[in-house]
Amino acid sequence: MLRVIIFVCLCVTAADFSEVKKSKLVIDNDAGGDDAMAIFLTLLYEKHFDGPKLVGLTTANGNTPEHNVYFNNQRILRIADRQDIPIFRGSKSSLVTTPDAGAWFGNDGLGDSGLNFDDLVPAQEKNAVTALIDLSKTYKSDLTVLTIGTLTNVALAIKTDSEFLDRLGHLYVAAGHIHDDENPDAEFNAHMDVEAYHIVAKNANPDKVTFLPFSQVMTHLNITRAWREEVFGAIDTDIIRAMNQFESVSLPKSDRWHALDPAAVAVVVKPSLVSEYQYSKHDINLCGQKRGLTTNTFVDKAEANARIVYSYKEEEYKKFLLDVFSRK
Ligand SMILES: *[C@@H]1O[C@H](CO)[C@@H](O)[C@H](O)[C@H]1NC(C)=O
Repeated sequence: MLRVIIFVCLCVTAADFSEVKKSKLVIDNDAGGDDAMAIFLTLLYEKHFDGPKLVGLTTANGNTPEHNVYFNNQRILRIADRQDIPIFRGSKSSLVTTPDAGAWFGNDGLGDSGLNFDDLVPAQEKNAVTALIDLSKTYKSDLTVLTIGTLTNVALAIKTDSEFLDRLGHLYVAAGHIHDDENPDAEFNAHMDVEAYHIVAKNANPDKVTFLPFSQVMTHLNITRAWREEVFGAIDTDIIRAMNQFESVSLPKSDRWHALDPAAVAVVVKPSLVSEYQYSKHDINLCGQKRGLTTNTFVDKAEANARIVYSYKEEEYKKFLLDVFSRK
């Protein structure tokens, strides 16, 4: 009898310990249909695959104005049945100039589905920048920050607290391109706040900051719209039905489905889906015709300020998406 009791106690202690050690994630986002998929992916991976615990969402102007992003974050958490996760509202505009974002995912950022709920949970009082800093103090190196939108909030956190980046486990930045003839124009997230991007790049070091250029997703996760609609989109869950509505405006615009944000979550939670990293002297042009174009000089890690996700394992990534999104 005594042995049984001791065994039970040990189990409880081990479970508590793993909970303490479990890594934590904050997603800074501008949802956005692709952000919605990234957040759903994080929550399903947390629940079914022992992934990092999502401890907050921070919002910023980007794909759609911040008030829409906030409403979209509320709806996403409601659909995922995870309204325990706090939302912290952030920047309404960029640091210097705020470009017109267009409406790639529809006027509301989520496919103009009209989907609404009468029990949405309001945001926290605390703003996104203070929340990012406070979470970095609470969780220190157990905290990963992933930005999948405009970089305004993270730049402000870096400027407000010079130890913010050092304290984190890692910052993943889904933005920018490796420019070539195929990708001559500024990437959307980089373009939306060029000065913020520059602040992040200037303060980066390759042990703390990984950039995920969109060009590499388009090249190495060059997935067809047919796969997205007919294979992935056929999964019979509430989340995928919502995702099909959220991407209903954007999907018909191309015969490809190029989605940076869920790929960024994949890199964070399952790094084996990356096939190659590079190290780079990475920055962004602030002035003239090249404003918003990101720059890379590939070098040894010792000379680099950033790690770059260069290529992905496409077939394994598609299987990963199907596996995770088949769960409820
Ligand atoms: C994606 O694949 C299509 C069809 O093979 C090709 O035409 C296109 O150039 C590819 N895109 C990229 C960015 O590699």
